[in-house]
Amino acid sequence: MEMIKIFDTTLRDGEQSPGASMNIEEKIKLALQLECLGVDIIEAGFAAASPGDFEAISRIAEVVTQSTICSLARALPKDIESAAKALEKAKQKRIHTFIATSPIHMEYKLKMQPSEVVKRAVEAVQLAKSLCEDVEFSCEDACRSDIGFLKEVALAVMEAGAKTLNLPDTVGYRLPHEVGHIIKEVKDCVGDKMVLSVHCHNDLGLAVANSLAGIQNGARQLECTINGLGERAGNTALEEVVMILKTRKDVFMDLDTRINTKEIYAASKLVADITGIRPQPNKAIVGKNAFAHESGIHQDGMLKHRETYEIMSASDIGIPQDNGLVLGKHSGRAAFKDKLTNLGFSNISQESLDRAFERFKILCDKKKEVYDEDIRSILTEESTKIPQIFELVSLQISSDSCGVPYAAISIRRNEEDKIDAAIGNGSVDAILKTIDRVSGYNGILKDYKVEAVSEGKDALAKVVVKVEFEPNRPAFIGHGLHIDTMQATAKAYIGALNSYLSMRELMR
Ligand code: KIV
Ligand code: ZN
Repeated sequence: MEMIKIFDTTLRDGEQSPGASMNIEEKIKLALQLECLGVDIIEAGFAAASPGDFEAISRIAEVVTQSTICSLARALPKDIESAAKALEKAKQKRIHTFIATSPIHMEYKLKMQPSEVVKRAVEAVQLAKSLCEDVEFSCEDACRSDIGFLKEVALAVMEAGAKTLNLPDTVGYRLPHEVGHIIKEVKDCVGDKMVLSVHCHNDLGLAVANSLAGIQNGARQLECTINGLGERAGNTALEEVVMILKTRKDVFMDLDTRINTKEIYAASKLVADITGIRPQPNKAIVGKNAFAHESGIHQDGMLKHRETYEIMSASDIGIPQDNGLVLGKHSGRAAFKDKLTNLGFSNISQESLDRAFERFKILCDKKKEVYDEDIRSILTEESTKIPQIFELVSLQISSDSCGVPYAAISIRRNEEDKIDAAIGNGSVDAILKTIDRVSGYNGILKDYKVEAVSEGKDALAKVVVKVEFEPNRPAFIGHGLHIDTMQATAKAYIGALNSYLSMRELMR
């Protein structure tokens, strides 16, 4: 049996997806889930890109022990040195360096001759190799590069010490037989001396098909993301390729991965909760409807024999089999802890557990039925909490005699409470304006999403906001969870402000 290495880049290429930026605690939580999932290599970020990325990679390198931790680096000494430094504490580490090899990138972006590109690639791999045993090299835009040139680069970086060569379809342009051909040609040239890797973007909806073609032609590493998150139309979805390899064993009989497929659902949920980007309902494997059977004929068939309409079972990817109805107000701490383990939160700190249990008890008083999804959301929030520089103490919304809404808000900072009130065009506007006044920061709301965590009129509301605090700087995401949507809104906005302030500290 040959193993396909799963290289997850949700924290790097996935995070490049518009609106998908994560704070450090969220990145650590996700890295631990990827480790649980059995991912071989976690690309934890791009160390030289920002102090936040550097810090996230170093913290992940400290806590993840089973997966190799990798940092991306351009073929530049400062990037490679920064990657090596961020990876210092990793038990198993890899530097992933790259430069573009396609005519269009070399001429217009790099303004370099092909010979200079080869030289830069070799120097980058040599430097990386002197700092880290495991080096991967990527020919950016490989799939639009000249095959003869790709082979020249492949042999040069192999000689310089690269163990893995990645041939990305950076712009998602190729068809499966074309990707297969490129991989085969390079494989025939390098033999077994380097692992070949596929990394496909989904611009034409072919990322998964192209990755499979790469695997069928000799690639033994797959670069992918959870839920297919990534730049533009995204990257190859990990869950799709892994489940194809498992379900179609008749075709891929000699190939396997180390992925524990029962952790796929938890990983998908976590990514969606953290980024606020939900997979479309009909998305393969992890979409809400992926295992739902609506039509009578299908339901009848399913009852008679499951395989009439199902090629995989929901339990294979870890979808809970009951209706998710869980504990009630009389449930004790032990039952709560047991539930958390079932939901995949076994490595949570005692402090987060205590806070979550307290919130669960409060929720039981307000809500008739508490579902798995409610608990999962509370836990995700508690286990990814960043320092609460500002904290919401109270919020009241009313309207004046003409019906104009106003919000009165009290916020704590350094144990001091400040209160203020403001009117707005609507309740959300009034809340955000008041928070700006009390905190002294002026945010621009770039995105606002609200959804019910589970069913029922008394469902918990989850609000995700994206806020820009400085012009032309990245926007920050904040999450708020509350039975009252306006309270959730205030918490989310303050969360984004806290994220911004903790990043600003790092950037100083
Ligand atoms: O798509 C791409 O080419 C990349 C490289 C940096 C590997 O993400
Ligand atoms: Zn990419």
